[in-house]
Amino acid sequence: MSVTDVPRAMGHAHFDAIDFHREYGNVVRVGPNHVSFDNPEALSVVYSAYTKFEKSDFYLPFDAKTAHGPVPTVFSVRSEHANRGIKRPIAGAYSMTTLLELEGLTDECIAIFQDKIEDKLKESERENIEMDLGQWLHWYAFDLITSITFSNRLGFMQSESDVEGIIAAIEGRLKYNATIGQWPALHKILLGNNFVSWVANCVPSIAKLNTARKIVEFAARQLKRYEVKNREKLDYQDMLDRFKRTKSDGKLQMSDVDVLMAATGNIFAGSDTTAISLRSIFYYLVKNPTCLKRLIEEIDDMDRAGKLSEIVTFAESSDMPYMQACLKEAMRMHPAVGLLLERIVPEGGVDICGYFIPAGTVIGANPWVVARDRDVYGEDADQFRPERWLGLSKQTRVDDGTGASARTNLKRMERNFLAFGMGSRSCIGKNISLLEMNKLVPQLLRRYRVELVDPVKEWRMEGYWFVKQLGLNCKISKR
Ligand code: HEM
Repeated sequence: MSVTDVPRAMGHAHFDAIDFHREYGNVVRVGPNHVSFDNPEALSVVYSAYTKFEKSDFYLPFDAKTAHGPVPTVFSVRSEHANRGIKRPIAGAYSMTTLLELEGLTDECIAIFQDKIEDKLKESERENIEMDLGQWLHWYAFDLITSITFSNRLGFMQSESDVEGIIAAIEGRLKYNATIGQWPALHKILLGNNFVSWVANCVPSIAKLNTARKIVEFAARQLKRYEVKNREKLDYQDMLDRFKRTKSDGKLQMSDVDVLMAATGNIFAGSDTTAISLRSIFYYLVKNPTCLKRLIEEIDDMDRAGKLSEIVTFAESSDMPYMQACLKEAMRMHPAVGLLLERIVPEGGVDICGYFIPAGTVIGANPWVVARDRDVYGEDADQFRPERWLGLSKQTRVDDGTGASARTNLKRMERNFLAFGMGSRSCIGKNISLLEMNKLVPQLLRRYRVELVDPVKEWRMEGYWFVKQLGLNCKISKR
């Protein structure tokens, strides 16, 4: 157990937390008022659909910073009731039905990615090119989210740059939020205070962290461009168009600020997460050549049978069981979020795995910890083994002492999967990411051979809420 909150703010809390749980068990006190747990049955107590466990003040610095002061977003709002109210008019825009109607916009982004690779291969005197694939995946995710949100792809891939510095701005804010979120009361006297924030902007190293306003202004600029667009000429009805701004009786359901908050949320939450998961898929595949070979065979079999479109569709990818298993396993090995999904224990307290936790305690599970739980995933929980999701492998534990079958184990693994969160506050953008990942991965592997430039060198990780990877340098050649 830890007597201070400091270790959670150090950038490697995801690995520390796994070690804590392996040493001390299912329930670990990780700070003076913080308890971490990792039991699948307890997950559904804390993160249920109509939970009384509301988000903690860790989320306070995630409120959007506007000219009128901080405004809670769908992600940061603590009250469950308020969260339901914010989500009501926007939820439909995030449904898979809507997103499949926007699949063509994903195709455009994938085509740009492919064209870029082709151009670079043509220019190169060698058979392969080297690229920071991790960076390209980030640009791809950003082009896509701006495209489906505002019908305005910002051209990260085309310009090969961080357009308007938004990626750096989000990174700075995450560093500040993940650190100060451990002592949220400090936020009001630090960057949450207008005067301190103004002074902070004069010191370049601190100004890099003081970007909350910049992110909202970025979203506001996109909205302005959007409003002057002739939308009748567009081929797609984008997400903004699908927000229900008015009710059937004509009454306003979303103010301009509500729309701005939803757009800001897409910008803030919609690119790092997908990029991290995509990096994980490619990394674990190239590190595990047998798995990569099996996946390529699955893709090639479908291709030869004429079952693949020019750009792989979501439906086609969903028909690839091994691809689905790889995707899930990569997100298990490297969940995007690496801190506790903090909630407050409600009145009356709660029993978790035989421990009574009093009301007011901050409690939560860390997606990294539950993903590496050997009781659920077996002794090889630290290994990338997509087969575990197929329930067919001999290594899948068919007997855990309780007579559980492989199917029951699969259900337990599914229940323990916290990469997208769980219950009422689970990820609203999951379908966007699934669409992006399901299409890009088979499409690139179908056309190109992907290898690490240096197969021995490990990537670096920085865990500030999101566990970002650096240094996925790859060699790409035509297959
Ligand atoms: C692979 C990609 C993604 C991963 C792994 C991911 C992960 C998560 C997780 C773990 C949570 C729960 C956080 C908590 O309980 O504190 C969450 C919530 C959320 N995510 Fe995602 N996310 C992804 C993509 C996206 C995208 C593309 C968007 C939007 C465009 C998005 C928007 C949100 C929002 C708004 C919430 C808060 C929902 C609520 O509190 O009601 N996410 N996400």
